[in-house]
Amino acid sequence: MRFDIITIFPKIFNSYLNESILKRAQKNKLIEIKIHNLRDFSKDKHKKVDDKAYGGGPGMVMMAEPIIRAIVSILNSKSKILNPKPRSRNASHFTTGQANSKFKKNKIILFTPTGKEFNNKMAAQLAKNYNHLILICGRYEGIDERVKKVILDLGFGVLNLSIGPYVLTGGELPAMILIDAVARQIPGVLGKTESLEEKRYGIGVPVYTRPVEIEFQKKKYRVPKVLLSGDHQKISEWRKKQKKI
Ligand code: 6GU
Repeated sequence: MRFDIITIFPKIFNSYLNESILKRAQKNKLIEIKIHNLRDFSKDKHKKVDDKAYGGGPGMVMMAEPIIRAIVSILNSKSKILNPKPRSRNASHFTTGQANSKFKKNKIILFTPTGKEFNNKMAAQLAKNYNHLILICGRYEGIDERVKKVILDLGFGVLNLSIGPYVLTGGELPAMILIDAVARQIPGVLGKTESLEEKRYGIGVPVYTRPVEIEFQKKKYRVPKVLLSGDHQKISEWRKKQKKI
């Protein structure tokens, strides 16, 4: 799976995506993550990527053209990632990559607090059905609506996603959350000692490890007996009872 992220804060991503499981997944070429600085696609001498909203109102809007240029640059990048036919002449001057790409199943995702709420089922479906996701991190009051139109005219699917019922300052955390949730659904990303716990015995099941007993302020805290019993049937029943999802 390849992820391309378009953002005005490229540095945000380095620490989280380059540790632990996601670091290993990149090293093992199970996922590839490319970060694109939106300001690199501004033609303004001050690298401006936002402007006042037509019609007035407070706050700034992300300009369409730098985002469109960034998308086109990704499409034209060296691995010739994507190649749908332009659906309208309107969009065809943003030429995209040629056929014979190994990345054909692609989607462009716009992060916005008013989008469809992301969940684990969507993560699993994205992992299964796509091998290239372009993630556009919104900031300010939102993104010029014409970005969506151009993407559709280029022949790509657009998904407006929210990560939950609260408002964040931008789409960067949502993008990292999506990458994390999608990547762990890709076969081979989780190792032997990790697993899709939602498939194993469910999310929210209490877990314990050594020692069997700990003492804190004269009180003893023990592992439930059933887990030490070796009776797999009983353990499984106990876990089912505890299960939240
Ligand atoms: Cl995707 N963006 C922002 N700015 N806030 C959010 C969100 C996204 N999802 C939930 N809140």
